[in-house]
Amino acid sequence: MRKAIGIRIETATDKDTARLTQLYRKLYKGDEDQRFFKSNAVANYFKSGSRVFVARDGNCIEGFIWVVYYEHIKNKGIGIIEELYIDDKYRKKGIGKRLVSKAIEYLKKRDVLVVIVTTSPHMINAKRFYKAVGFKVSREWFYYSLSRIKQQ
Ligand SMILES: CC(C)(COP(=O)(O)OP(=O)(O)OC[C@H]1O[C@@H](n2cnc3c(N)ncnc32)[C@H](O)[C@@H]1OP(=O)(O)O)[C@@H](O)C(=O)NCCC(=O)NCCS
Repeated sequence: MRKAIGIRIETATDKDTARLTQLYRKLYKGDEDQRFFKSNAVANYFKSGSRVFVARDGNCIEGFIWVVYYEHIKNKGIGIIEELYIDDKYRKKGIGKRLVSKAIEYLKKRDVLVVIVTTSPHMINAKRFYKAVGFKVSREWFYYSLSRIKQQ
């Protein structure tokens, strides 16, 4: 794996919204009909409890991670990786791993005990990535679907 030299990991600001929106659209390419795709999800990135870290090459953002934490029970906080995306040409250079480390460092300071991320069964690369950066697979995940998609 070739390391990316000169990439800076920084906290995003609302000045980054346009570029984050571009990357977000690449991430959800093919899902353009989804309601959230047209919503201002990117603006929600900057709400309380949310943090976005970006990987910058010069002035351009080439990847981002969006994390959220919940303080619902004292000392039992949960951190969630909501989105992680690295632009194609910048993959396999250690940037995703650096963004995840930065997110974990941020969540640790908030007494988060567990960081979770969900992937779909078809996201083989994402699953390999999360295993490679130290995540374990949980088989104890209950859900109640409200989607109109037929439950399997
Ligand atoms: C998944 C993704 C974030 C990985 O980012 P990346 O910057 O290429 O990953 P890194 O270079 O930091 O790789 C870190 C580790 O994961 C492994 N890895 C990364 N991509 C992999 C792949 N496609 N297949 C197998 N392993 C992979 C690397 O080999 C590396 O392992 P190592 O530390 O043992 O050498 C990136 O491919 C991406 O944006 N994909 C599309 C969006 C997506 O799937 N997001 C995650 C879902 S929330």
